[in-house]
Amino acid sequence: MKMLETLRGRKSDIPPIWFMRQAGRYLPEYRELRRSCNGFLDLCYSPEKAAEVTLQPVRRFGMDAAILFSDILVLPHALGMEVRFVEGEGPKLTPLAHADDLAKLDLKKIEAHCTPVYETVMNVHASLPKETMLIGFCGAPWTVACYMIEGGGSKEFAKARQTAIREKWFADLMDLLVEGSVDYLLGQIAAGAHTVQVFDSWAGLLPPEEFERWVIAPTREIVARVKAQAPAVPIIGFAKGAGMQLPYYAQATGVDAVGIDFTMPLEWAAKHIPENIVLQGNLDPCLLAADGKKAAAQARKICKAWKDRAFVFNLGHGILPNTPIAHVEAVLAAVRGA
Ligand code: CP3
Repeated sequence: MKMLETLRGRKSDIPPIWFMRQAGRYLPEYRELRRSCNGFLDLCYSPEKAAEVTLQPVRRFGMDAAILFSDILVLPHALGMEVRFVEGEGPKLTPLAHADDLAKLDLKKIEAHCTPVYETVMNVHASLPKETMLIGFCGAPWTVACYMIEGGGSKEFAKARQTAIREKWFADLMDLLVEGSVDYLLGQIAAGAHTVQVFDSWAGLLPPEEFERWVIAPTREIVARVKAQAPAVPIIGFAKGAGMQLPYYAQATGVDAVGIDFTMPLEWAAKHIPENIVLQGNLDPCLLAADGKKAAAQARKICKAWKDRAFVFNLGHGILPNTPIAHVEAVLAAVRGA
């Protein structure tokens, strides 16, 4: 398995490739299957359909990895929160506002609630080509807490940030999310995930002391506890927007690989991320959607800049729904040297 070898530190002339959010609305076969479901969460909890969607980008593009089709908000849903996905508006949750709301969340619900997700992992595992890696994932506690407190998406998550500063119960919420994430990742690993990625999409919102407390510390704890049970499973951390804190995140959390977002200069990343950490990234999803030729040229630049490192070719954030398939193909051809 090429990507597994890369995650263990092996360099290669042609890096393994997958794209964040590679199963989704830019694929006609996804849109078609999605029409047969009663909403996005229904698809996440349908083991056969979710497995099919997981496999679509592998079949179409020969990606080196499949990422479980699910969502980071499945965990708060499993804990007992109300979660809905409104077409065109993104996720909506009944926000947590008091310590009392926290008392309603129940870690014991995760196992039964997530059984269909683990079944999806088993289904994918059974039909995946032998050389293709299967990635499980969770949201990092900070990012998941942002959605739980804000009640949905936001540019700044000002309510979540103020809650983190003001409310004692915020630390209890983070502890609960660490526990839940460990169970959830270990469930996916037991079902057949070969690696797991922790998505901290909103890591970049925090000043240094809070970055330490709400990004580094919980991630370090999750990594240590997953590794205690599954030492051979590599862990990828994606702390979007971490900027100059990323080398510290890479070293302090114990992850094996770090996602590099599209704002990060290539040479800076190669120089400052510790040598023993694998890089993953970092093509700009807007460049990919906007211009296939320029995206292919940038893809070659990434490969050149990181040729002396073990790295996984990826985007610097999730693929956009309006991305033309031809642009994806152009980038894959460029990376594979065609
Ligand atoms: O292909 C894959 O990567 C696997 C599946 C996956 C989804 N979401 C499917 C999805 C993964 C890994 C995620 C992670 C996720 N979800 C993150 C972290 C990564 C990132 O993008 O920063 C976050 C923050 C979420 C929360 C979330 N889910 C939002 C904000 C939205 C709405 C925005 C949007 O893209 O629609 C979702 C919905 C969602 N998750 C869709 C998909 C395919 C679209 C829903 C649909 O098909 O109608």
